[in-house]
Amino acid sequence: MPLNILHLTDCHLFRDADTELKGVCTRAAWLRAIAAIDPQFEQIDRLIVTGDFTHDDLPETYRPVRESLARWWPKTRLTIGNHDVRAGLWEHASDRLEQTADRLVFRDSVGGWSLIGLDSHRPGEVIGELGEVQRDWLDHQLRRAPGLPTALFFHHPPVEVGSPWMNEIALADRAELGQLLDRHPQVRLVVCGHVHHESSTLWGTRLVLTTPSTAVQFVPVSTTLEVDSVPAGYRHLELHEDGRVFTRVVRLV
Ligand SMILES: [Fe+2]
Repeated sequence: MPLNILHLTDCHLFRDADTELKGVCTRAAWLRAIAAIDPQFEQIDRLIVTGDFTHDDLPETYRPVRESLARWWPKTRLTIGNHDVRAGLWEHASDRLEQTADRLVFRDSVGGWSLIGLDSHRPGEVIGELGEVQRDWLDHQLRRAPGLPTALFFHHPPVEVGSPWMNEIALADRAELGQLLDRHPQVRLVVCGHVHHESSTLWGTRLVLTTPSTAVQFVPVSTTLEVDSVPAGYRHLELHEDGRVFTRVVRLV
């Protein structure tokens, strides 16, 4: 049986349940997404959410996130986004994360795959960075399991997704990460958020995917931030033990 994963990202919640971001009530949109995936619960092995849980950067905004995921919590894995707060995320999700140096990461071995969540948060900035200490930690993890197909999850994409303004706020140390991953061909897949639209890019031998936000959508391949009218969405991933990956984006219409 393949490993079935749902990837949700960039819900951008506020403490106030009614607050809107660019005309979208993010709390209502998030709850709609959770309701939409509910019928799939038994078939799904993991629910992975790659950050920007909050938009107001308030620690208490993680409480409704946790509450909304109560049923999914044992299957849930998380990574931090640029809008998040490490202390708040740790306070409400320390049972789904581990600390390495000053970063919040996860490691999960399931269905013949290694899933690793990384922390690309740079406090107070929109751009992301893994940093040398975390890259060394990742190198160590990958050296321990060279034969296991591996997927990485983190917020800021390490590739250009077609929009110059977005490339300037993506992953700063993407070149260093690329050099590291060249030594570990078992890394087949990198899954990110941040860009608020769907994309798929070949990066060396790896497939890099981004997934729509559960709330506000951005126009892909644009020169400036422009809100898109396409529906919100999430991604389904089917990972096979032999390393094959099947995926599709599901729109919340
Ligand atoms: Fe975001």
